[in-house]
Amino acid sequence: MNKKLRDNCFIRDMERSFDLSVPEMNRIMKDFGREMKKGLAGKNGSLKMLPAYVGRATGNEKGKFIALDLGGTNFRVLELELKGGGNFGAPKVMKFTIDKKHTAGRGEDLFDFIARCIKAFINEEHLNKEAGMKLGFTFSFPMDQKALAKGLLIRWTKGFSASGVKGKDVVGLLRKSLVKEGLGSLLVSALANDTVGTLVACSYREPICDVGIIIGTGTNACYLEKISEIKKLKGFSGLKGNMIINTEWGNFNRLKLTKYDAALDRASRNRGEQILEKMVSGMYLGEIVRLIIEDMAYLRNIDKGIIAPFRERGSFKTEYMSEIEGDTSPGLSIVKRVLKRAGADVSSAEDRNLLKKICAMVSRRGARLSASALAAVICKMDRALSRKHTVAMDGSLYEKHPAFAKNMKRALREIFGSKASRINIKLTKDGSGTGAAIIAAIAGS
Ligand code: BGC
Repeated sequence: MNKKLRDNCFIRDMERSFDLSVPEMNRIMKDFGREMKKGLAGKNGSLKMLPAYVGRATGNEKGKFIALDLGGTNFRVLELELKGGGNFGAPKVMKFTIDKKHTAGRGEDLFDFIARCIKAFINEEHLNKEAGMKLGFTFSFPMDQKALAKGLLIRWTKGFSASGVKGKDVVGLLRKSLVKEGLGSLLVSALANDTVGTLVACSYREPICDVGIIIGTGTNACYLEKISEIKKLKGFSGLKGNMIINTEWGNFNRLKLTKYDAALDRASRNRGEQILEKMVSGMYLGEIVRLIIEDMAYLRNIDKGIIAPFRERGSFKTEYMSEIEGDTSPGLSIVKRVLKRAGADVSSAEDRNLLKKICAMVSRRGARLSASALAAVICKMDRALSRKHTVAMDGSLYEKHPAFAKNMKRALREIFGSKASRINIKLTKDGSGTGAAIIAAIAGS
């Protein structure tokens, strides 16, 4: 078989296994809906459906707060002033890189490091640490929340593995470290997942916001649920009204895996966990592409020169996909540059084309999976999609990838038809910081 024919066969096969038809998206929606119900009832399943002990913002929350944002390799400390009426001042922000020593070392060291960052911020901004300043803590990992300011880590995701944290109250651990740094007067009054912060931040200005999603390094969604539907919340006194539920959708697993997904999972630190996340989020998509091109090089479909710089796990970054898929130049000169930068000095136009197609298949599947899961979340709140919903969205993949948002919206139209226009996905930048401050304000009211 000549190379062109072989390429076409390979791509056709791939497209088939990475495609997500409308019936398949409907099947996922149904299964996702079932798992949501199980999770709300406290039964075993892939969706934890974690109560957040907070609802939407009113827009009237006021005051100055410190927000902490831990969820990836950066840790941020912010000071925010909420002015009420949905307004807030420009935040003061400091960003710190968390290195492997802390993400994979002892939990105590991680929290001590965080406390030192907070101290550096307070000193830099000349804040009065004796004033009993309230702190909102965005902690973007699955946690079993017991109250607004108490949550036990269920498991680490996104490559974190710090020891001695699983099963512990992360607010308690933070408090201990704050005391060590002489910051015992700070009051950690709220704890929230980043999706929850994003929903709350968006609702500060937009009262019909009822879903929060992150599609970045990791992925997850939360939504507003009737408290009466949260069957496992027995004994909770506020039985009326709504509460935000963190679905932890990254762990959804009723999905058809390709051999590349299976290989990625096998090599991961959290094997068998976060299956949807491994097919959707920025931490993993580049690696799926890498596994495919490695396979193609093995099958001699692709020039070995292209794979040479990508022999190592994690060497094909998801960011490359954005550049590659955004390249509309004749001869794909941007793709050529990306490859060259990575160390593949020579590449043929055919191979560059092939690479672009592979990237597009992988990211399109991620977008369609996200749309199916979002559709299930919306239907849980509003079965017939009879009203408008604003979805607060944040995350680098959704924001920066040239086709992810478009593909996700297109898939929603395929699922819901013209009613899809009732879903407004709104980019809510930095919701996790603002949201933590608003939740701290709600805690104090
Ligand atoms: C975590 C979620 C988080 C999401 C986005 C996932 O890995 O489990 O808690 O919301 O990443 O940051």
